[in-house]
Amino acid sequence: MTYISIQEAMDKGEGEVSIRGWVYRERGSNKIKFVVLRDSSEIVQCVFKKDKFEDLWDELDKIQVETAMTITGAIKKDERAPSGYEISATGFEIVGHCDTFPITKDQSPEFLLDVRHLSIRMRSLSAILKVRSAYVQARETFFQEEKFIRFDAPILQPSQCEGGSTLFEVKYYQDITYLSQSWQLYSEAGIHALEKIYNFGPTFRAEKSKTSRHLSEFWMAEMEAAWFDLTEVSEFAKKELKYCIAKTAVVCKKELELLGQDPEKLIELTKKDWPTIKYREALKIIKEKDGIDTPFGKDLRTVEEHALMQHFDTPVVVTHYPVEAMAFYKPRDSEFKDEALCFDMLAPGVGTEIIGGSQRSMDVEDMKARLEAEGEDTSNYDWYFDLRKYGGVPHSGYGVGTERVIAWITGTENIKDCIPFPRTMLRFKP
Ligand code: 4AD
Ligand code: MG
Repeated sequence: MTYISIQEAMDKGEGEVSIRGWVYRERGSNKIKFVVLRDSSEIVQCVFKKDKFEDLWDELDKIQVETAMTITGAIKKDERAPSGYEISATGFEIVGHCDTFPITKDQSPEFLLDVRHLSIRMRSLSAILKVRSAYVQARETFFQEEKFIRFDAPILQPSQCEGGSTLFEVKYYQDITYLSQSWQLYSEAGIHALEKIYNFGPTFRAEKSKTSRHLSEFWMAEMEAAWFDLTEVSEFAKKELKYCIAKTAVVCKKELELLGQDPEKLIELTKKDWPTIKYREALKIIKEKDGIDTPFGKDLRTVEEHALMQHFDTPVVVTHYPVEAMAFYKPRDSEFKDEALCFDMLAPGVGTEIIGGSQRSMDVEDMKARLEAEGEDTSNYDWYFDLRKYGGVPHSGYGVGTERVIAWITGTENIKDCIPFPRTMLRFKP
């Protein structure tokens, strides 16, 4: 028997086909049974008539939602069927019996997360994960086309990059080390050999926030490039995102539609100009238009990001955040010393920060002072300061929060549904 996917069977449109998958829905009487079968590609309704299956009717009666089975039969178009096709079954085999499946309609998000090993089969989740896969692949192509080299950094790292308070400690033989908060510090070594590099890897933050946009383990898509300054790197970030979103919208048209998104609108968005504004301008906008009076000096909070992004219909790059609120490696503007040469990209609508990046400081003394102010032992960073000592060049980079981008383009409310098995402050199982 040669099995084809349900999508391939529907593309064929007529004649005999053999498919295999899991029962998505089933109903029937003692004369006729309807089984909607699901595989990774689609769903299709299959009809079993008692006159053809007299001897096997008891076996067919055992079929429940999520029973794994094969079905052979004649496929034809049928407007009334859920996906527009119906298979008139002539044979079947039950491959894996199923107990009463615990997932039925209207269950709480928490319950669905408790049984994520089973709820991962939900069609909406599959659609999101296909979008994620297409997005990641588009990104690989983008960086290959841009002649970047893939460069992998250690996941176990001896010190922080994004603040000590969110480090995950790991016992390392007789020592203590930490899970990576970012690939960046190592990428800054790499650019002195390879110049333009990128990666995609798991990233860990012991976030004490229980929000719909924070994970403790997420996949960051980072890049670093020698010779790039703030303008070049932030424009490059726009280029990357536009490319990946446009490509994903084409490849995942069906999935995006299933999720209630309009792929055409996403493609249109990638053709627009995405503005860049300074942090100080952002504060002015939300003061004038929303009456939010935020003093210069802090990172933008959710309320401010959300308010700001109500005034834009594309992503926006915000540059020049206050140095005092920024990581030690973000350099000071040469003219306005309290402003850092850094940027965030915010998504339209919800206003979530999807990208964080910067030019990198070349001022070792300034970096040391800022690390010391955070209570760090600067000798842990001697290797990093060496990079400035031995042929240092201007360079810049950024990191994209993959799950945040996927949540935005798929219209998913909670970032937890944009990764197969989410880890958060309150959850590390299953
Ligand atoms: O802004 P962040 O902290 O920047 C860095 O880590 C830089 N070292 C990156 C670089 O320049 N190479 O993180 C980058 C992005 C954020 O904009 C956000 O999209 C995502 O990573 N992110 C998270 N996503 C999910 N859960 C979390 N806890 C996240 N923390 C950051
Ligand atoms: Mg950030």
